[in-house]
Amino acid sequence: MNPTYATAFSIAILVAVIIFWGLSRISLPRRSGFEALEDPEAAQAYDRISRWPQFRMLRRMVAGKLARYQTEGSLPAPACPGGQGRLVADIGCGPGYLATLIAQRYPHLHVVGFDSSCEMIRTARLNAAALDLSDRVEFREGDVSSLPVPEGTLDFAVSTLSLHHWSDPGRALAEFSRVLKPGGQLLIFDLRRDPRRFFHWLMRFAQSWVVPGALRRIHEPLGSLLSSYTVAEVENLFAQSQFHEWKVEGGPAWFFAWARKRLPAPSPGG
Ligand SMILES: C[S@@+](CC[C@H](N)C(=O)[O-])C[C@H]1O[C@@H](n2cnc3c(N)ncnc32)[C@H](O)[C@@H]1O
Repeated sequence: MNPTYATAFSIAILVAVIIFWGLSRISLPRRSGFEALEDPEAAQAYDRISRWPQFRMLRRMVAGKLARYQTEGSLPAPACPGGQGRLVADIGCGPGYLATLIAQRYPHLHVVGFDSSCEMIRTARLNAAALDLSDRVEFREGDVSSLPVPEGTLDFAVSTLSLHHWSDPGRALAEFSRVLKPGGQLLIFDLRRDPRRFFHWLMRFAQSWVVPGALRRIHEPLGSLLSSYTVAEVENLFAQSQFHEWKVEGGPAWFFAWARKRLPAPSPGG
């Protein structure tokens, strides 16, 4: 064979093997309790990386999904007069950027962000104040397993990149079921522990070379990936929850889980 063709052929085979290998899924053993975002330095570093384009893209994606659910049910469209006073909560809100984006996009909604870290709540309040949104977005300390809101209060609950921290996700789903209004919806986004292999290596690379030192010291972002759940595990969580209507959509390295709280059965008389 002509040496040029032989080289090109070898390179093509190598590239094909790398692509095939990189796209195969890896299933990693679960390790919990890595992250410590209560640490002020780590919280500030997380605040900074939250402004990176990939995080902005995620928030736009989640806010876009809310628009879809507005037309489907628990959140009336902005023009609908019944929309006033609708309450959306972001659980594990971190520095609050998703909550403020939702408030900006949907001015008819009131948004509340909950986080178990007082450092994150402090940062989120500052970020909302900088956008002049403090009157429509509030941030409160609260743990997902016992949210400081009465039963049947929320029209919609969202949560991004937080599930993998929760010590008892089954308890958290029961709490969502308690705080949502009948017909209210829940949308959770998180990493999956069975990602495409190349994503796993990308996370390793990011941890070694890209993220600020304060996050590297607490094993991020690999720690989040290793403490996340596989799609099958998430499906199992929902199957055992009070939610009867739910779906989990898996992506290359993440998933979206959606659920709706059941409406009360109509009374026999009508
Ligand atoms: C990786 S950050 C994600 C922040 C934000 N949602 C985002 O997408 O950028 C995870 C957040 O979940 C919060 N968190 C962890 N465990 C929690 C719990 N049990 N209840 C409420 N928030 C929690 C952490 O304090 C942290 O701010």
